[in-house]
Amino acid sequence: MKSVDKAARLFVCVAQKDEIGRDVAKALKQELKTQGLKTRLLDGEKRKVRVQTCNCLDLCKQCKKGAGAALIIYPEGVTYGDVRPRDAAEIVREHLGEGRVVKRLQLD
Ligand code: FES
Repeated sequence: MKSVDKAARLFVCVAQKDEIGRDVAKALKQELKTQGLKTRLLDGEKRKVRVQTCNCLDLCKQCKKGAGAALIIYPEGVTYGDVRPRDAAEIVREHLGEGRVVKRLQLD
């Protein structure tokens, strides 16, 4: 039986705003490297953190509100909206590093 990949994942929507979504994903990857958070401890297990682009996350209402991209972080299932590349450092540091949701970007 194939083992389950227990990586933590960040999915960045590129359905409406391809360029900004890709730039956000790139900035997140760079920050994971810079901040040394390519792995994180979850439920006592060390897990890889993967950033992926994806199609619509069904958060389109929020996508249309600003120039930034929407993203979701698993396994928490926390969604963020209007995210710009400049927000990547804070999301990586606060959410992935400290386990604190970035309230100013969180979607309901
Ligand atoms: S187009 Fe971004 S969530 Fe649907």
